[in-house]
Amino acid sequence: MGATAFLYILLSLWVQDAAAILGFTRSDFPQDFVFGSGTSAYQYEGAVAEDGRRPSFWDTFTHAGKMPDQSTGDVTADGYHKYKEDIKLISDTGLEAYRFSISWSRLIPNGRGAVNPKGLQFYNNIIDELVKHGIQIHITLHHLDLPQILEDEYGGWLSPRIIEDFTAYADVCFREFGGRVTYWTTVNEPNIGAVASYGSGQLPPGRCSDPFGITKCTAGNSSTEPYVAVHTYLLAHASVARLYREKYRAMQKGVVGINIYSFWSYPFTDSTADLEATQRCKDFMFGWILEPLVFGDYPEMMKKNVGSRLPSFTKVQSELIKGSSDFIGINHYYSLYVSDRQTEPGIRDYNRDMSIYYRASRTEPPAGQGAPTNVPSDPKGLQLVLGYLKETYGITQLYVHENGVGSANDSLDDTYRVDYLSSYMGSTLDAIRNGVNVRGYFAWALMDLFELLAGYESKYGLYRIDFDDERRPRQARLSARWYSGFLKKNGSSIRVSRVQEDLRLTTVF
Ligand SMILES: *[C@@H]1O[C@H](CO)[C@@H](O)[C@H](O)[C@H]1NC(C)=O
Ligand SMILES: *[C@@H]1O[C@H](CO)[C@@H](O)[C@H](O)[C@H]1NC(C)=O
Ligand SMILES: *[C@@H]1O[C@H](CO)[C@@H](O)[C@H](O)[C@H]1NC(C)=O
Repeated sequence: MGATAFLYILLSLWVQDAAAILGFTRSDFPQDFVFGSGTSAYQYEGAVAEDGRRPSFWDTFTHAGKMPDQSTGDVTADGYHKYKEDIKLISDTGLEAYRFSISWSRLIPNGRGAVNPKGLQFYNNIIDELVKHGIQIHITLHHLDLPQILEDEYGGWLSPRIIEDFTAYADVCFREFGGRVTYWTTVNEPNIGAVASYGSGQLPPGRCSDPFGITKCTAGNSSTEPYVAVHTYLLAHASVARLYREKYRAMQKGVVGINIYSFWSYPFTDSTADLEATQRCKDFMFGWILEPLVFGDYPEMMKKNVGSRLPSFTKVQSELIKGSSDFIGINHYYSLYVSDRQTEPGIRDYNRDMSIYYRASRTEPPAGQGAPTNVPSDPKGLQLVLGYLKETYGITQLYVHENGVGSANDSLDDTYRVDYLSSYMGSTLDAIRNGVNVRGYFAWALMDLFELLAGYESKYGLYRIDFDDERRPRQARLSARWYSGFLKKNGSSIRVSRVQEDLRLTTVF
């Protein structure tokens, strides 16, 4: 028996075995469902001062030493120079879709006005390459990455002036790329982005006020600015969606949606106070964005707790926003336990307005601010979020835009990531089987990147990058090989030990 035949028999055993273990295969998902992975511009591209790109507020933030590891995205994965080999990697892995973002500062370096021909060429090249390989393209216009010049000129997202500039930038993107791209997301994670950028000061522009900042901020107002920023994000989203519908949709036949950060919240106890706290948490996280998009106004709970610090919509704005999102994408990583927190007198921020405590597990002490660490995997939470969005807001098209697990350990042997991703994919399938229209799943991230909260201290990649090597070589982790087997061989739930065995065997042959 030749080596090839022997391998073939092994593989078929492997694939049969697969379905039996986790109970699903690629073909259990709807035919037009897509599996992919993603990156974002500042996290992936590098080349921050090349070919006419001007600074985004990330450059300012990282160069001021604001990251916990003092890192920058100056080079990161060097995607600006390596996109072609990366798209081949995407294709070789068998991924069906790729989600990435456009750097506004690269395409329109002054924020408005002249288009940078080299920037335009870069995104044209990426898109052409993806089309050539038959990869479905999902583009985010604003992945928390604003031209610094607009921050300087009028305070970025705190000013309604950005709506016109953002719409003009989107117009360039639709005009230049929309013939080849049909899935557009306006803003990534406006909910958590606003809180981290303007409440705790952890993301650029790094604004906050005492005593609410996690870092020291020189300017800002944590009581008001997160609400102002989300208000602007929503108006800007609606303006871009209207532009697309009026000027491009008939020709380009695409869809325009928005993305939200999500975690599932379980009540810590079954007391009425904790149940109400859990509902407040959902209203502040999902309702803040989705009630305006679906019903035209903020949740009653938020109006009550935030009071006059919550901006209000005019009738015209409300009508414009209502129904302006063709789909909702969620970024999802974990679940939390939520308990009631007494409303405190005095000035409040988002967290105090919400008045909850949260814990990553039942045994942890409660926290009231900041990202939790060491959160256990809870795949069921993803199904619960997807079901909740359908039931509560009637969302009819959903994407899991980001889901993944980070680690300081950059070993190739990421068994834990295979377990994590496969179980969350299973949870997505459970949601679909319960009637939720989920259209795609994107593992975060395609490769190790500059992470927005952790710099290079936490790796999320299916592919490993050696950041000490200036050539930034990519190496497949076990998770990349597992994902590839799932997609290409209709095998799913390939037991990890089996994958390892197979890897060893293919190496021997
Ligand atoms: C934040 O804005 C509120 C409402 O305008 C105001 O009462 C408060 O004093 C401001 N806080 C700071 C730190 O400027
Ligand atoms: C990293 O993970 C690998 C594979 O699981 C393990 O063998 C290694 O000991 C880990 N390294 C550290 C520093 O924890
Ligand atoms: C994939 O595997 C499942 C379960 O073994 C099987 O029912 C299905 O027909 C297969 N699909 C394809 C396209 O091979």
